[in-house]
This record gives sequence, structure tokens and C-alpha cells, in this order.
Amino acid sequence: MGEKWVLMKTAQTPTNIAVIKYWGKRDETLILPVNDSISVTLDPAHLCTTTTVAVSPAFQQDRMWLNGKEIPLSGGRYQNCLREIRKRAREVEDKEKGIKIEKKDWEKLHLHIASYNNFPTAAGLASSAAGFACLVFALAKLMNVEEDESQLSAIARQGSGSACRSLFGGFVKWIMGKEEDGSDSLAVQLVDEKHWDDLFIIIAVVSSRQKETSSTSGMRESVETSLLLQHRAKEVVPKRTVQMEEAIKNRDFASFAKLTCADSNQFHAVCLDTSPPIFYMNDTSHRIISHVEKWNRSEGSPQVAYTFDAGPNAVLIARDRKAAAQLLQRLLFSFPPKSDTDLDSYIIGDKTILQDAG
Ligand code: ADP
Ligand code: DP6
Ligand code: CO
Repeated sequence: MGEKWVLMKTAQTPTNIAVIKYWGKRDETLILPVNDSISVTLDPAHLCTTTTVAVSPAFQQDRMWLNGKEIPLSGGRYQNCLREIRKRAREVEDKEKGIKIEKKDWEKLHLHIASYNNFPTAAGLASSAAGFACLVFALAKLMNVEEDESQLSAIARQGSGSACRSLFGGFVKWIMGKEEDGSDSLAVQLVDEKHWDDLFIIIAVVSSRQKETSSTSGMRESVETSLLLQHRAKEVVPKRTVQMEEAIKNRDFASFAKLTCADSNQFHAVCLDTSPPIFYMNDTSHRIISHVEKWNRSEGSPQVAYTFDAGPNAVLIARDRKAAAQLLQRLLFSFPPKSDTDLDSYIIGDKTILQDAG
């Protein structure tokens, strides 16, 4: 190996939004959840992470930049992902550049990682999901790792739980698994993105500010203090997961919407049941819920499902393009961006609009 070369790979990974939420770990280090969860992966043009990973004998240490700012890689989660991927690294040869990296060289070579989110980081739009999925995927490409997406998902899971579901498109299930070592806690694709392509997603960015309580510490506090969480994990989610899989398979929007909204509301109820209580939603979030509930009732059947992750931002899933157009019209009227409703912007289809309106 010469000393002057750099080898790079870039990957792009969309975020995912859970319709059956993951909230609570049974193992903090391995990131093993207390229940199964189901999500929908968003169009990469919507909300995604782009990560470039580079290796060179000239690099003195592993370093990472997130949205242009250097961040420490000392955290256990980054270290766990790097270690697991390095273990599986294989020989890489680039004849054009005259580079050959043997399997054993990967232990000594250092990495530089640059990652960029095209949407708010740590604001409850699952940046940790797209971020760690993309990191693991990019490293696997760079190091010629053979593992399939499900096996990679079990590595991404150790960066952030929700990340394991971003390695697939369409609807994805994170199976909680039974093994103590976490080897069977991984993601599988339920259906691909073509299965239910009528669905249309609008995100109301109520606030792009960083949340006060990270998902990690919020769910730790819930596990320690909420009785409702125990009930949810043992009694509610197992049944709901079966019903949700059925609704997705049959493209049954009425059931899908009912289950999605109920699960989001129960997750936020668990946050309220936590001591001290955690408030991820705000007034605007609550008003959006009321608005959608009222509209769905007046139509006789659900047109839109809402779900909120650990933040105030609404993810609205419309049954089809027509419902989405009506929804957007209603939202713009009742919740104009950058007004006293305190709403930042809408993300719709493949582009962000109205970012600086008003
Ligand atoms: P979110 O709701 O956005 O997922 P979290 O509190 O779960 O918020 O996670 C935010 C954290 O995820 C960030 O502080 C950072 O450590 C990590 N993260 C976000 N984006 C990336 C990325 N592109 N690459 C690596 N890590 C990321
Ligand atoms: C509300 O995956 O961000 O978005 O595993 O500690 O990194 P860590 O937490 P994270 O939690 C996501 C919580 C959620 C629900 C979900 O995505 O299922
Ligand atoms: Co997260």
C-alpha cells in the first residue's frame, strides 16, 4: 500500500416513521427493545441522510463531521457500529487506483466520515434512524462487507434502535427478538414501496428546534417509571402489531389509520405517565390532531392518519393524492407557516415548500 491514496464511498438513506412505536429498551448497550415496531420508510427525496466515508493511510484517527461540525466518535454507539463493521470487513481492490486493502489492514486504517441530514437533526423526525442506517450502509460498501440488509440492520440497531428499520423501503418490522446477544433483534421488510403507493405523506414541521429530552433518555425514564409502558409492551403492542400487518397487507386504510393514530396517542400517553412527565407534543400538535379527527369524522371514513415521534412535528399519511391535496389546503388555511401558530414549514412529496413563507 502506498501512503497517498484515499478511497471513498457515499450512501444516501431515507428516514422512517414508526406507525407502531418503539419506546423502551430491555438492554441499553445492545439496544434491544421491549416490543416489536413497524414503520414506513419515507421517499429518500423527502428526508434523508447522505454520508461519505473515506479511508486513507494518511488518516491518523477516526473522525466524523455531522452537518459540517466535527462530533466526537468516542460514544459507545459509534464505537459499537464501527467495531461490528470492521469485524466483517473484507479485501478491497481498486485496480485503477492501484489500491489493495487486505482484510487485516482494516484494523489499522482510520476512517473519516462526513454526514449531512437534509432535514432538522434531533427534532423528532428520526435523524438518528437515517443517520446510523446510512453510516452502517456506507461503511459496509467501503469495506466490501457481505452481510445482507437484515444482518446490517442488527448493526445499525446498535447505533440507534430506529435505524435498523431504515435499511429497507416500504413497510418494515423490527422484530424484538429473544436472544440475549441480540442476534435475532433485526428488521425485515413487510412489503416494498410499490405495494401501497396511493399513500401520500405530508410532514408539518411544527418546530425544527432540537428537542429537550432525547429519545434515548426519554425512553429510559419511561421504562423506569411508567406502569402504562409495561402494559403497552406486554398487552397492547403484540395484538396491535398483528392487526397492523394485516391492515398493511390488505391496504385497509380505515384500520391502518385507526391503529396508527391510537399507537401515536398511546406512546405520548406513556410519556405523560413518565415521572417527571415528558411533553413532546405542543399546543399546535394537539390542534392538528383535533383538526384531523374532526375532518375524518365528517367524511365518514378516515382520510388521514397522524403520528408524532418524540417531538412536536406531525407526520400525516393521506389515503391518496386527493386526500393529501385537501389536507394541505386545510392545513395552510388553519396552520399557516411562520405565523402565530408557531409552525415552521411543510414537507410534502419530494420537496420542502414554504420554508421561509411569511
Ligand atoms: P431524532 O428524533 O432526530 O432521531 P434522537 O434524539 O433520537 O433524535 O437522535 C439524535 C442524535 O442522532 C444526534 O444527536 C446524533 O448523535 C445522531 N445523529 C443524527 N443524525 C446523524 C447522522 N447523520 N449520522 C450519525 N449520527 C446522527
Ligand atoms: C419515538 O431510535 O431515536 O421515534 O434507540 O435510543 O437511539 P435510540 O432511540 P430512537 O427512538 C425512536 C423513538 C420513536 C419511535 C420509533 O421510531 O419507533
Ligand atoms: Co431518534
